[in-house]
Amino acid sequence: MKTSIKTLLSSGALGLVVACSGQGGGTQAASAPAASSSATVEPASVTTAAVVSNAAAHIATAGYLPSGAVKKPGNWREWVYVGSPLTPNGLNGGTAPFPEFHNVYVEPTAFEHYERTGEWAEGTQIAKELVLIRSNNNAENGSTAEVSGIGYQQGEFQGLELAVKDTGRFGEMPGGWAYFSFGHKAQPYEASAEAFPAEACNACHAASADTDFVFTQFYPVIRAAH
Ligand code: HEC
Repeated sequence: MKTSIKTLLSSGALGLVVACSGQGGGTQAASAPAASSSATVEPASVTTAAVVSNAAAHIATAGYLPSGAVKKPGNWREWVYVGSPLTPNGLNGGTAPFPEFHNVYVEPTAFEHYERTGEWAEGTQIAKELVLIRSNNNAENGSTAEVSGIGYQQGEFQGLELAVKDTGRFGEMPGGWAYFSFGHKAQPYEASAEAFPAEACNACHAASADTDFVFTQFYPVIRAAH
């Protein structure tokens, strides 16, 4: 995805492609050609700027029900996978709030924007899927003995959360970030979710996350991207 976005960016086609693949974020796909056609003095640099700003406007945004509830993304496992923090029960006195692996995925157009700018664009979506530790001849700390050694492997899916940055829609939330859960349970997950109050989720992210409410310090793929 990373390579193909860069290829598209240099060919000027990104805005159109993203507009087609997003879930409702593509209403202004045609602005780049108009801007670049007026660039007669320095065509190369002006064209690049026009394409970049067009791309920034085309973050694939979340879908919403008329009630305002966010829809579960359709394809989060195809987004950019950035890391899997793990806080197992075995290392937390048996009572970790999230004892599963936390597999985190960034929606590709938002990832591309971050890669380029170091900022989370309006419309950014980040999914966190919880995956149980694979149980297999468990030792005291919940680890398993596998051919690769003693440690933790992933078992079954156990929940899905979503973070969305949208200051227009969630202006009352610090930083414009709203947080959702489609269930802390096995699949099927819920089809939609209401935003949590700011104190339930947002406050901890505000206090401890490295980059605009996002825990970039725990995601090697994001650290490497910008
Ligand atoms: C006590 C602190 C804390 C609270 C409260 C909290 N989170 Fe998080 N959240 C984290 C940490 C730490 C991470 C980094 C990844 C990990 O370890 O799971 C994270 C990561 C995330 C991510 C991935 C994107 C990112 O910002 O890194 C989502 C989505 C998320 N949390 C959703 C929620 C939701 C929904 C709630 C409220 C129900 C919530 N969080 C409450 C600490 C918190």
